[in-house]
Amino acid sequence: MSVKQPNTIYLEDYQPPAWLISHTKLRFELEEEQTLVRAQLSIQSNPAARDKRMPLELFGDEGMELCRLSIDGQILEACDYQREAGYLRINNVPDTFVLECVTRLLPHENTTLEGLYKSDGMFCTQCEAEGFRRITFFPDRPDVMSVFSTTLVADKCLYPVLLSNGNPVDSGEDDDGRHWVTWDDPWPKPSYLFALVAGDLALLEDSFTTLSGREVALRIYAERKDLDKLDYAMQSLKNAMRWDEEVYGREYDLDIYMIVAVDFFNMGAMENKGLNIFNTSCVLAHPLTTTDQGFQRVEAVVAHEYFHNWSGNRVTCRDWFQLSLKEGFTVFRDAEFSADMNSRTVKRIEDVTLLRTAQFAEDSSPMAHPVRPESYMEISNFYTLTVYEKGAEVVRMLHTLLGAELFRQGSDLYFERHDGQAVTTDDFVAAMETVSGRDLTQFKRWYSQAGTPRLQVSDQYDARACEYRLTVRQSCPPSPGQDHKQPYHLPLALGLVAEDGTELYAGLLELTGEEQEFCFDNIKQCPVPSLLRGFSAPVKLEYDYSDAQLLMLLRHDTDGFNRWDAGQRLSIRLLQEQMQRYRDGQPMVCSEALIEAWRQLLNDTALDPAMLAQCLRLPSEAQLSELAEQIDVAAIHAAREFMRTSLAAALEQEWLQAYQRCDTNELYAPDADAVGRRSLKNLALAYLVATEREPWLALARQQYQQSDNMTDQLAAFALVAHSDDRETAEELLQAFYQQWQHESLVMNQWLSVQASDPRDGALERVVALAQHPVFDMRNPNKLRALIGAFCGQNAQHFHAEDGSGYAWLAGWILQLDQQNPQIAARLLTPLTRWKRYDPVRAGQMQVQLQRMMDTTELSADVYEVVSKSLM
Ligand code: PHE
Ligand code: ZN
Repeated sequence: MSVKQPNTIYLEDYQPPAWLISHTKLRFELEEEQTLVRAQLSIQSNPAARDKRMPLELFGDEGMELCRLSIDGQILEACDYQREAGYLRINNVPDTFVLECVTRLLPHENTTLEGLYKSDGMFCTQCEAEGFRRITFFPDRPDVMSVFSTTLVADKCLYPVLLSNGNPVDSGEDDDGRHWVTWDDPWPKPSYLFALVAGDLALLEDSFTTLSGREVALRIYAERKDLDKLDYAMQSLKNAMRWDEEVYGREYDLDIYMIVAVDFFNMGAMENKGLNIFNTSCVLAHPLTTTDQGFQRVEAVVAHEYFHNWSGNRVTCRDWFQLSLKEGFTVFRDAEFSADMNSRTVKRIEDVTLLRTAQFAEDSSPMAHPVRPESYMEISNFYTLTVYEKGAEVVRMLHTLLGAELFRQGSDLYFERHDGQAVTTDDFVAAMETVSGRDLTQFKRWYSQAGTPRLQVSDQYDARACEYRLTVRQSCPPSPGQDHKQPYHLPLALGLVAEDGTELYAGLLELTGEEQEFCFDNIKQCPVPSLLRGFSAPVKLEYDYSDAQLLMLLRHDTDGFNRWDAGQRLSIRLLQEQMQRYRDGQPMVCSEALIEAWRQLLNDTALDPAMLAQCLRLPSEAQLSELAEQIDVAAIHAAREFMRTSLAAALEQEWLQAYQRCDTNELYAPDADAVGRRSLKNLALAYLVATEREPWLALARQQYQQSDNMTDQLAAFALVAHSDDRETAEELLQAFYQQWQHESLVMNQWLSVQASDPRDGALERVVALAQHPVFDMRNPNKLRALIGAFCGQNAQHFHAEDGSGYAWLAGWILQLDQQNPQIAARLLTPLTRWKRYDPVRAGQMQVQLQRMMDTTELSADVYEVVSKSLM
């Protein structure tokens, strides 16, 4: 048994804070072996608090050393306060006072990457969600907003750059080689948005003139060796700033905007006020070292963090149950930005694919939770696909229901009403209700109910009356703590398409009831419904399409997303048929109709290569798993490989032509057109190699050698590295390592390619790679690259029937939990899905979960995930 069960925090227990902090003055003495933090908090009792004369309760991590505590200059003795697990309590404090507190931290020993820690020799912080309490004692909750003034003192040679939120207002040098800088942030903020950085950093500088003519200095900091990889982030930042002015009317509100790249980071990036801290993987970009996907991620994350300045910082969350208030809205904003910068349809396809594979799987797992959860043990566990991506879909539905214009009015009203406040998702919806005059009470079930709703659609056509009827039934499966669901209010975008592809109708239906019938008049021929266009709601849609109808929609639908989706539906159905044949010991077959449809697509040179590449990609094993009643790892793999190799062989000439068509000798650029051409080219190359015919591996090898960018090099590299020509493969593995061993992010790719290699002996290979010098278990990017890739992209081996993959993962989690609980809990995700597998595998996974449960001293992070999974 674990030593103690962590507390559960409930939304319904929310109380306004008893004490407010108007001003927070911090002084950091940064040294190699320790950091002293002096905090002066100007504290007042909160007039809005329920209970007056409450003792002062501050959060503070148990490991933090408290050196001195005083109130209005009077030193407190040990008997004047109580320190309990995670708290400091002081009784009998005045109504208004200044608390001064000195704490001693050991950042060089902080492996959790929360609070103050060191990344490659530089000091940096991560305070969301509850990291500030590892720096000093504080009411570390988002509804306590305070004006910060921060002084950093450090050795000038080692740490020439000293940064914090806001503007530098004073600086100086001491005699002993140390220097100091004071930063003032005029905007009141919750402690989770505090940040500091100290290091020897290189800088790319630019500027931006806001709509009202103010000049903002833009500064991106990184290690000197990475200075040549910052241009794309800078351009993306400027694009995002302009876009937020044009689309949301939001201007930046400080004179400086800073981004710092760090290699040790638990997440993607953090929106600290005026001083974003980024995982290097989300900010560094260079054609030689970064793939197209990497470029697009940089663009999206830079924009995401910038957009938080309004949706998150100026208006923040009342409590952490409201996390999706800032994250769902901001993901929606960044998705729209990326759609405007690149191809809208392709962006939508990518986002929906992520939702359908990973979020749907989460929504049917033991960790399923509503977009606004009702309880948690460890909030870090709730930075999830549900809060982020499903949360963004909920905002998108509001946008669809209200229309762009009213939505913008609602957003304006939300920012105006709540500027400087910490609010709730209800407040967000209320602004949308005010501008639209609509009652969104039922809509709010999207925030409170977990699980993926199911829409079952049937239809009837009356040729004589020219009448077409659609019947839509909605339901939602039970989820932990929610046995029965109420119907949702959702937008159902649809078109009615004639057999010859003519569009007979297009419009938006609103669903509110459990079962609803819609009648369309004046429909002159029997239509094929194109349902849920643009994926207008995050649901599973069922309609009994014939293959011919899907092929027609794939060819003719005016909605690009649904064209793609029709193709996916068809592929999924055919794949599922082959899975059944595989299980029945029958030979699998590849549908001639599918081959012909793909041939037509491939020969249609008018089609956008990016769209074409999306249409010619079979659904992933992960997505097929999500769709399965019970996941049959072997059947899924066999069926998909069979289809892939069949399509490869049947269309060999077409793949070659597509390859050649897209193999233009242009200079590398990460724009949508060029990205699209490379994605089709590399997809074609993958199919060619899948034919296992001689010339194509050589072509891959040639591409590897001749490419001038990481997208083409890595695509070719992975194909060769996974091939049975071991001599060439080993040679390239070595060459790639030699070429890129000093580029940490490229080495992550090198690890991932090997971790996802499906050939026999995969576990032995990852075990060996964990001993390789480029692997560093303290670096989350390395853990994701090796452990994450093996468990997530090598299902065959992770799910080996003997349980060896599960045991290996559990061993890692137990080890990592001592060092970085957040990452340990995150890597655990695949084991939480045990109920979806056959009894043998489910049993093996349970054994490993129980092994963790039986360990003493699990972190709250891992405890919560393991215990909920076993329930
Ligand atoms: N708030 C960050 C974002 O989504 C994510 C994050 C959460 C980063 C917690 C670090 C810690 O932009
Ligand atoms: Zn965010």
